[in-house]
Order: sequence, then structure tokens, then C-alpha cells
Amino acid sequence: MAGSWWMCCRRFGAGFATSRLPDTLRCFGRRSACSSASSAGRPPWSSAPASERRPLFPAQSHSRAPDLGASVIRRHPGSLLYPTLQTCGCRATHSDAKPRDPFTLAQKDLASLYDDIKKELFVATAELQYLCDYYFDGRGKAIRPIIVVLMARAMNIHSNRAGDLLPGQRVIAMISEMIHTASLVHDDVIDGSDERRGKKSINEVWGERKAILAGDFILSAATKALARIGNSAVVKVVSQVIEDLVRGEFMQLGSKENENERFKHYLEKTYKKTASLMAHSCKAVSILVSSDPEVHEIAYQYGKNVGIAFQLVDDVLDFTSGAEQLGKPAAADLKLGLATGPVLFACQQFPELHALIMRRFSSKGDVDLAWQYVLQSDGVQQTTYLARRYCEEAIRQISRLRPSPERDALIRLTEIVLNRDK
Ligand code: FPP
Ligand code: MG
Repeated sequence: MAGSWWMCCRRFGAGFATSRLPDTLRCFGRRSACSSASSAGRPPWSSAPASERRPLFPAQSHSRAPDLGASVIRRHPGSLLYPTLQTCGCRATHSDAKPRDPFTLAQKDLASLYDDIKKELFVATAELQYLCDYYFDGRGKAIRPIIVVLMARAMNIHSNRAGDLLPGQRVIAMISEMIHTASLVHDDVIDGSDERRGKKSINEVWGERKAILAGDFILSAATKALARIGNSAVVKVVSQVIEDLVRGEFMQLGSKENENERFKHYLEKTYKKTASLMAHSCKAVSILVSSDPEVHEIAYQYGKNVGIAFQLVDDVLDFTSGAEQLGKPAAADLKLGLATGPVLFACQQFPELHALIMRRFSSKGDVDLAWQYVLQSDGVQQTTYLARRYCEEAIRQISRLRPSPERDALIRLTEIVLNRDK
């Protein structure tokens, strides 16, 4: 049965077509990853036929599906050869210049992000105010707002709209960070985490009840800001994120006996828990400047594919990074009973892991044993490779836009997502 679950990736992942695990690395990426939930009634992770995809900016002719031939991505013992931008058929930059650093490029739009968020969080109760402001101290990665403002500018240029961000687009950047932070405040209660962003978590300092209320308050401030944008399509798109976050977190509480279902469940959970926020925030800023659903879909697809890659890398870092680097406990997933990508891949090589996964690593010694299996397997490399394939799809999607420094920075961002160590 080895690899039969992997077949489900054809439907739920970045378009994989293989029946045996070692072959996966040759067979990824023949088809696109996922399609927007709103597109043609397909679930967000199902593949759209290549024939349905058209270039939006014909001069660049980026529409061709990446030609990921076996010679490019054949797996070598102990190492992986990754396709480059060129092998994706994507032009790397709008000029020959090196793509601008995404963080520098987004800086001008995000200079007062945290101050503006704190204004949204203003409340007369001093303690509640303090709790709500606690994580908006500039120590987060702010990856979501960065993606949102870069996408907004790329979309504006694509739509021939010169000048600054639209006010609503900037508010979406703030909202993305607020929803994300609210979800983390709740997540730390669920996970019993005592650390976040290099400091004690809210639940650790003030207790679970106040933490839950602080998360609720941040979420309520985000929804008020969303309503103020005054665009019902945007409200609908961003509201979906909240449902997905809750459902993704709920899915994480359960596990599947069957290996096929387990991987499908993992990818769907990953989409809902992490990628939906990026996908829908990107879509929201595109809706504000363009009325073309095909353009909205590009924004959505970029955010979704980067989002899934981001979470896959997060799952890898849980095995490869120290607690100090992460600013939160390492090996946390195993301790929480969670079987993420590296474990699921490792289970292919070491079926002994199946029983541990099913009992959620709850017996004495399970966490250590699972950790050893993962490190002896190529689960970390396979998960990293999978993340890379999602990034390639993100690049392929965003490359359909008119060239701009921001579009190229979004391409560059995929590398940063893949290579981050915290
Ligand atoms: C972090 O996961 C958690 C999330 C990305 C989402 C959590 C969502 C909820 C708690 C649902 C409630 C949502 C709202 C909007 C209030 P992790 O535990 O894998 O990451 P970590 O290691 O950073 O804790
Ligand atoms: Mg957590």
C-alpha cells in the first residue's frame, strides 16, 4: 500500500501523479495545485485543467504549466535537485534587475501598521487594552501584511491604476495581521503554550479566560474594520477565513486511521488553518481594484500556494529548529499529538509509526521514538520538497500578472518562505 495515500495528492495537493513514494519527486507538479472555492464550484485544493488557464498578460506568455521534467527534479541519494525559476518557464523579473527585497519594498506601506492596529484596538478598559496590544510589538514576522500590500500594489499596476494603495487595501493588510494574531492567542490556549514570539504567552501570564477574551476582542476589532471598508464581496471573502480557521483547528483535533485519508486530511487542514487567510486576503485586495474574476483567482492562488508552503515549512521547522530560534517550544507538534508532513512521510518508510500516530504519541517514549524515526527518514526533505512545489505553483500563478517590482518581490518571497529558519 506504500504510497497509495499519496495518490490523493493528485486531488488535494500540488498535482502529484505517482503511486510510489520515491517516485513522487519526479512526478510532482504536472497540474496546478488548487482552485478557489468560488471558482467553478471546485473545492479550493482541486486541480483546474491546464486548458482552463490563460495568460492575463499575453506579452509575458507565462501561462504554460511548469515543465518539471524528470531530469530536473529526479531525486538523488541524500540530496534533491530543485527546479529553478527558469525551469518553471517563469520570467524571474520585470527587468534584468535583481528582484527587490519584499520586506524593503513593503516597508513604506507598513511603517505604521502596528500603531494603526493599536488604534483599532482602542478600548477604555486598561487591562484588556494591554492584553490586546501585547503581540503587536513589531516582533512578529508580519508576513501576511507584507504579502497583502505587495499583492495590492502588483494588482494595482496590473489594473493600470497608478499611485498609492487604496485605503481599503491597507486595511486588509491590518485585518490579516489582526485575525492571525487573534487566532494565535486562542491557539496558545488550545495548545497550552507558554511562549509566543519570544515572550510569555498571554494565557501563561493572564490565564486562559482573559486570553480567550483578548482574542475575541481583537477579532471583533478586525470585523469592525472589515465592515468599514464597505464592500460586501470583500466582507464575504474575508469572513470565509474565520470559518476556515476554526474548521482547520477543529480538524487538527481529529486523526484518520486510513493513510490516504490522513494525508488528504492534513493538506485540507493546512489549507484551512494557514493558507486560507493568505489566499482570501490576497483575493480581497484584488477585488478592491479589479472586477475581473480571473485576476481575483490569480491573487487567491498565489496566497493559497504560498500559504500551504509556509505551513509545510513550519511543520519542518518543528523538527529542525531549536526553541530559542523559533521563539516557541520545539517538537511541539509531536507533543501535542500531531502528525504533520515529516511524520506522514516518515511513516511510509517506517510503518511502525502508524500505531504511534493513531494513539497521538501518547504512550511513554512515543515522542522520542517518533522524533528518531523522522530524523532517520527523509520526511523532512520530502516535506520541504513538497513546500517547494507549492511555491513553484505560486510563482507560476503570479507570473501571469503584468511585470512590476511588487510582483517580482512576491516571487522572491517564495524563496524566503522556503529558506526561513524561524
Ligand atoms: C497556529 O498553529 C494556529 C493557527 C494558524 C490557527 C488557529 C485557529 C484557531 C485557534 C481558531 C480560532 C480562530 C480565530 C480567528 C479566533 P500551530 O499551533 O501549528 O502554530 P504555533 O506553533 O505557532 O502555535
Ligand atoms: Mg500552537
